[in-house]
Amino acid sequence: MNSFVSGPVLVTGASGHLGRRVLDHLLETLKVPAGGIIATTRKPAALADLAALGVTVRQADFERPDTLAAAFAGARRLLLISTDALDRPGVRLAQHENAIAAAVKAGVEHVVYTSMPRPEGSPIPFAPDHLGTEQALAASPFGWTVLRNCWYFENIFLSLHHTLAIGKWYTSAGDGRIAHIARDDTARAAAAALVAETRAQNGIYTLTGAEAFTTAEIARLVGETAGRSIEVVQVSDEALVQGMVAGGLPEGVARLFTAFDTNTRMGRVAAITDDFRALTGVEPQRYGAWLAANRAAIAGA
Ligand SMILES: NC(=O)c1ccc[n+]([C@@H]2O[C@H](COP(=O)([O-])OP(=O)(O)OC[C@H]3O[C@@H](n4cnc5c(N)ncnc54)[C@H](OP(=O)(O)O)[C@@H]3O)[C@@H](O)[C@H]2O)c1
Repeated sequence: MNSFVSGPVLVTGASGHLGRRVLDHLLETLKVPAGGIIATTRKPAALADLAALGVTVRQADFERPDTLAAAFAGARRLLLISTDALDRPGVRLAQHENAIAAAVKAGVEHVVYTSMPRPEGSPIPFAPDHLGTEQALAASPFGWTVLRNCWYFENIFLSLHHTLAIGKWYTSAGDGRIAHIARDDTARAAAAALVAETRAQNGIYTLTGAEAFTTAEIARLVGETAGRSIEVVQVSDEALVQGMVAGGLPEGVARLFTAFDTNTRMGRVAAITDDFRALTGVEPQRYGAWLAANRAAIAGA
């Protein structure tokens, strides 16, 4: 425990998929005592099991800055998990700015933030919220660590049911590659960054898997796992938007999803880094291992 911080560490958004796994890694992987952990969430009842273990569970909503002084009191280091207001550009930045202002007032020494790869000049509509949050952190008096999480393996479930149903994967990503990563690995890295006393001071880490695949390669691997064939159909960005709208998606959502493909085609998520290993000391999970572990969910999607 010598290299770990001695004061309480705080995780926001603790009932979300990522937040919950960060808490698991703090407790189980890093053996941080439950009494040294504060978990904040809009839904404290969802964390009753962790409260029973001795984790301090508090209510916090970035939309309600009045809740944040009490929520952040006493925290030494804080993991700011980006919120899920992906479809409302600007809202997320305002939420994060509320959290950063409260962290300053609470005297937090270091903030770790979950961002995205290369938010500068990105075609993705929510990228400016991440970039703005990174800039707000850099302008703050505390130390900071930015974790630019590449896309999760788990994102496949957003579209897999439809893809398997029609046997086709429409995309405008071309031969662009994605160095995606297991969500659990991003949680493991976030937990490590939160408790590392010296390794992660004022730095940007881009968290990726160990491999980068094209859409065609992902479709083949997922299809093999599901026992189905998936034909990849390359279309233009605009044709992809119109196809999704014709399929019933609101145009804003269709444009957001299409922007991911544009971003991939531009090569903006292709770079494989060693940053996960630098933070955690272990290798990221391979895509094949993740697919095998999730075979039932993939086949049943
Ligand atoms: N890299 C990727 O591929 C990828 C994919 C999806 C999402 N993300 C980003 O990573 C984040 C965590 O992912 P996830 O899988 O855990 O998503 P998730 O399960 O949908 O969790 C959403 C998170 O947003 C928090 N949140 C929402 N509104 C909030 C508010 N007003 N104040 C404070 N917290 C608020 C939630 O906290 P509580 O409910 O506990 O209050 C929860 O932690 C997402 O929110 C998103 O920014 C990244």
